[in-house]
Amino acid sequence: MPAFLVKGGNILEGEIAVGSSKNAALPALASSLLFRDSPHFLNLPEIEDIKRMNELISSADNQGGVDLEIAKRFRASILAVGPLLARFGKASFPHPGGCVIGARPIDVFINGWEIMGGKLIESGKTEGGNMIYSIEAKESLKGCDYTFKVQSVTGTEGIIMTALLANGQTTLRNCAMEPEIIYLAEFLNNNGADIRGAGTTEIVVTGRAGKLLNAIAPFSVPPDRIEAGTFLILGALAAKSLEIKNINQRELASLFAALGEAGVNIIDTKNGVIVKKPEKINAVNIKTKEYPGFATDLQAPFSILATQASGQSLIHETIFEGRLSYAEDLNRMGAKVALMDPHRALITGPTPLYGRELQSPDLRAGLAYVIAALIAEGESKIGNIYQIDRGYEKIDERLRMIGADIRRIES
Ligand code: EPU
Repeated sequence: MPAFLVKGGNILEGEIAVGSSKNAALPALASSLLFRDSPHFLNLPEIEDIKRMNELISSADNQGGVDLEIAKRFRASILAVGPLLARFGKASFPHPGGCVIGARPIDVFINGWEIMGGKLIESGKTEGGNMIYSIEAKESLKGCDYTFKVQSVTGTEGIIMTALLANGQTTLRNCAMEPEIIYLAEFLNNNGADIRGAGTTEIVVTGRAGKLLNAIAPFSVPPDRIEAGTFLILGALAAKSLEIKNINQRELASLFAALGEAGVNIIDTKNGVIVKKPEKINAVNIKTKEYPGFATDLQAPFSILATQASGQSLIHETIFEGRLSYAEDLNRMGAKVALMDPHRALITGPTPLYGRELQSPDLRAGLAYVIAALIAEGESKIGNIYQIDRGYEKIDERLRMIGADIRRIES
């Protein structure tokens, strides 16, 4: 199994460009099932989750079936189900797998599909134990008025895509407001759809009564705001001067506010920003929230910063209950992380970190471990890096370019 070997302590310097956004590309790719012909994608990131989505879409048949083994491997496979149901009147899919960051139910999708006229059947289990569902609409899907129980990013994307081919108008309330939803709606609108309100909590979709979209405008994948934020944190921890290019600052306002409070100075340049390690990092409390709040996907990297801050930082993870699972590993590295309950960790710093053998728990915490290893004394070995490759393109090569000592090995 491949692993990363990281020698800590190097001072980082130079420039790094932010790659294309996984979470913007995934729903746009899934939406290609709503097109008569194939839409064109520009700047798709070369990462594992995108390969899985392409494989999944290619495996779809005209009965709404997909390769269940591929689907169960990644959570975002659920994004293909709405388009399949909308187009073929039925879809079968396993309870999606993916990260181990919490329960990750799919009830907001199922409730939405049922209100539009779909009927869900549980039809056994895959070999790995995932429940397999099929959902079928006997008549054409009907536009509806639907309020999400919780703000869900992929839930909002999935129901928008389903409503697009339904009969009549759909009004969605309590929608998530993440930028990826705006990108998806803009892409679909550029190709003939009528979706209004994306980026607010109320979205109205005009149903096309089964009429597929014609591919006119391509989707150019925007920069990944989570990767950009993670590089900012890395720069604040380890850089003499790191220029981050291809960054959309507006999408990172909560992180900028937290870094400002931590005493990290970020300077605008023509193509991005420059960040450097401050003399002292202040402790900062953060609470993850739906956009435009502090992104849960930046919580683990920020916690590494908190280990180097003077004083106590309270990290409050409100979105997923399994996203503080790094506490034990960080403590083994020398950090002082006290878990108050499944949602809150108190980090006392600064503490030196020491290289250790680690297993990447999920995508975002995996890169946080790489950052911890880069500032630690000695060598770390990080396993289960498929989790990191799911979302970050050639991350080892790009980090080496700014002075990091990181190697990919077959262990
Ligand atoms: N939820 C439900 N029922 C549902 C769906 C969600 O209760 O049917 C709950 C979740 O348990 C969670 C909350 O709603 O407590 C919000 O989760 P959301 O549905 O928004 O998460 P998601 O759509 O599955 C996307 C990103 C995640 C990111 C979250 C939160 C994609 C492909 N994934 O997931 O990204 O953490 O939004 O911002 O867009 C990642 O990229 O590593 C990743 C995990």
